[in-house]
Amino acid sequence: MGSNTKAVLNYGDGKSVEFPVLGGTIGPEVLDIRSLYGKSGMFTYDPGFMSTASCQSKITYIDGDQGVLLYRGYPIEQLAANCDFLDTCYLLLKGELPTPAQKKEFVQAINQHTMVHEQMQFFMRGFRRDAHPMAVLTGLVGALSAFYHDALDINSLRDREISALRLIAKMPTLVAMSYKYSLGQPYFYPKNDLSYTANFMRMMFANPCEEYQLNDVLVRALDRIFILHADHEQNASTSTVRLCGSSGTNPFAAIAAGVACLWGPAHGGANEACLNMLQRLQIQGGVEKLGEFIAKVKDPASGARLMGFGHRVYKNYDPRAKLMRETCYEVLGELGLQDDPLFKLAMALEKVALEDDYFVSRKLYPNVDYYSGIVQKALGIPVAMFTGIFSLARTAGWIAQWQEMITDPEYKIGRPRQLYNGPARRDVPAMKPKAMPAAKEALATAH
Ligand code: ACO
Repeated sequence: MGSNTKAVLNYGDGKSVEFPVLGGTIGPEVLDIRSLYGKSGMFTYDPGFMSTASCQSKITYIDGDQGVLLYRGYPIEQLAANCDFLDTCYLLLKGELPTPAQKKEFVQAINQHTMVHEQMQFFMRGFRRDAHPMAVLTGLVGALSAFYHDALDINSLRDREISALRLIAKMPTLVAMSYKYSLGQPYFYPKNDLSYTANFMRMMFANPCEEYQLNDVLVRALDRIFILHADHEQNASTSTVRLCGSSGTNPFAAIAAGVACLWGPAHGGANEACLNMLQRLQIQGGVEKLGEFIAKVKDPASGARLMGFGHRVYKNYDPRAKLMRETCYEVLGELGLQDDPLFKLAMALEKVALEDDYFVSRKLYPNVDYYSGIVQKALGIPVAMFTGIFSLARTAGWIAQWQEMITDPEYKIGRPRQLYNGPARRDVPAMKPKAMPAAKEALATAH
């Protein structure tokens, strides 16, 4: 990181401050304004962090204009074609793809942690069965710190590694438990001779009367969903994990905060919102009603948005959405659902939007959530579980980003400043003493 360029800010009455400009490996340079307040007494104002780099990172790179996504330098398309989710986890955590021996060791280490404490079943019973799975997951992930407090020293490399393994290994078990609980079915213990994703599908879909028949195409499709969702640099939930973790709290608490943030419909909750939107549109008349629907999402007064479209960083087709659309073809083909009406409707809606000046001029393209719901629905995953699946996958990125932050020599507690525009200092006016309630008054005078 370095550049000889400097930027100068001229302000006030002939005053000026000079700032270094820092360069990364690729991507825009950044203005290092850390000394701004000390030198000028001013803060910067950037709601929504439109122009603010909050940290340095070596993990994920996005070029939003070109539609490029790299994990540790590797294009997402190549990872999706050649690797599995645990290779991706290893890559995100350690910086390199595993050798066969490292992979074997990593899988064994993950397998040691797939079960959850038996007591968690009783903890689960406190939830209503009709609770949203994300409400349950936020609680369960936070509760891990109550069950696994033997390795919570964030300054110990060994403890940090154990927590990372625990989180990646236990998320499938917890997500499947939250689903089984909602159905009123018994939980399934993990089966470590299956792959990570096959094990998850079995825990989700097997029942004591009927073993789940694993299908390689479907397992591979879900594994690919996990890869595509594993990390996405400093998005809202990852920034939440970093900010929460910056206080020195334990990783389970920080990642529970990430799960809570992901739930929102502007972020990970968009996959659920998108499928609900398509289903509603289908009921209201499908393709016949596309014009009316597009007019509604373009009207700011309607408050409606085309869910699964638009992105803060991508001003081009989200590369994950392209891969997800391919996966749709594979899964629907495998299941004999090529004519799935929802997929057809989604493609027709995409076409209309991409030819409409409103979307073109604002550079709004399908994001990862646009097609992921159709794949998940075809796999048998209920809509309310979609964001839970996302949080399972994103846990790999969250924990890698948290580890990177903890070991960053520049790491400090995150503490943004503000532009205060409330009342200036004022004095509390003289107040009448509060009248005593009648009964109390009578009691007081009786003594
Ligand atoms: N439908 C209709 N209009 C939209 C949409 C959309 N999906 N997205 C953005 N716009 C419009 C806005 O109304 C705004 O128009 P204006 O300039 O006339 O006011 C303009 O495009 C810019 O939108 P912003 O909200 O300012 O963009 P921002 O970067 O803050 O928001 C976001 C990005 C939240 C993703 C937004 O595009 C959105 O709400 N999309 C729908 C929800 C969604 O799919 N979220 C998932 C994102 S991917 C992920 O988190 C995994």
